[in-house]
Amino acid sequence: MRTKILGTGSYLPEKVLTNFDLEKMVDTTDEWITKRSGIKERHIASEKEATSDLGIIAAERAIKNSGIDKNDIDMIIFGTITPDRLFPSTAIYVQKALGLVGIPAFDVSAACPGYIYAMTIADSMIKSGQAKCVLILGGETLSKIVNWEDRGSCVLFGDGVGASIMAKSNDESGIISLTIGGDGNMEKLLIQPAGGSRMPATKETLENNLHTIQMEGNEVYKNAVNALTNSANKAIEMAGVSIDDIKYFIPHQANIRIMKTTAKYIKIPVEKVYMNIDRVANTSAGSIPIAMDEMNRNGLLNKDDLILVASFGAGFVWGAGVIRW
Ligand code: COA
Repeated sequence: MRTKILGTGSYLPEKVLTNFDLEKMVDTTDEWITKRSGIKERHIASEKEATSDLGIIAAERAIKNSGIDKNDIDMIIFGTITPDRLFPSTAIYVQKALGLVGIPAFDVSAACPGYIYAMTIADSMIKSGQAKCVLILGGETLSKIVNWEDRGSCVLFGDGVGASIMAKSNDESGIISLTIGGDGNMEKLLIQPAGGSRMPATKETLENNLHTIQMEGNEVYKNAVNALTNSANKAIEMAGVSIDDIKYFIPHQANIRIMKTTAKYIKIPVEKVYMNIDRVANTSAGSIPIAMDEMNRNGLLNKDDLILVASFGAGFVWGAGVIRW
């Protein structure tokens, strides 16, 4: 038995911040950002918008796209590292907004592969009979935790949430393989140091910008390529398919050079790699479900197409899978 994606949805906040806007904020240029990352612009949430607000719209769109009755949903899992609050979960706000009181709703903290982690849990829940129809979401309002004075990181991130409805498949379509993993030895390379129980918020943590993203870009880059390559290869092997059978590779949209290098290493032509980083930037857990929804709405995903997804992020953690559409 397989589980499949019945429908997709996504939401990007209205406000667009271009590289030219960033030139006015930090010492950078459109040319540098484009050349080093492939990003031209990103969407930024308003002061009033939290991650759940984006998620609720993405979820409503996924429900509509799947054609289900929203009351069929019996579980909600939200992959995010920018929850509305440390508690309660962001998923519970989505549950409340959708009027689905009573069903389990919880967040998964797995940084950029958060959506793949959520998918893995949903897959297991459906296969074990604990759920029949799961709403999974992945996405962020990273703009709220970016240090807008750090040119080495602030140019890379954007806001947005993607959502999918998952249920039992009645044919060969659906998830063929999923693999997730992590290596806590590299936790310091990409981290939001303060705001948790290790370093609760104080005047000093605020003054020292410790509630924002701290990143060692070069080290993250090297490990990203390795993690994406290894997890993608593992997902292909587990699925028992050949890389030539893959119609589209949807990698985590962190950097165009990371995506192209990974494509070279796993031996997939770059034309098969779906990239929207130029418009969306790195939305962490939103990356893959937003890209998937764009592809779905643009008619790129047809029945029986094999899709490879792979992601990595802070932790480090990674995840990959092969899906038959
Ligand atoms: N604009 C202009 N110059 C910048 C800049 C910016 N926004 N950010 C950094 N620079 C400068 C650096 O200060 C450095 O200057 P120096 O040579 O005078 O010291 C120079 O550009 C090169 O910096 P470097 O860090 O070596 O560049 P890079 O080619 O490694 O690119 C990243 C930097 C961040 C784009 C790249 O390392 C990367 O994408 N890493 C992965 C990050 C990531 O994906 N994080 C999220 C993971 S989920």
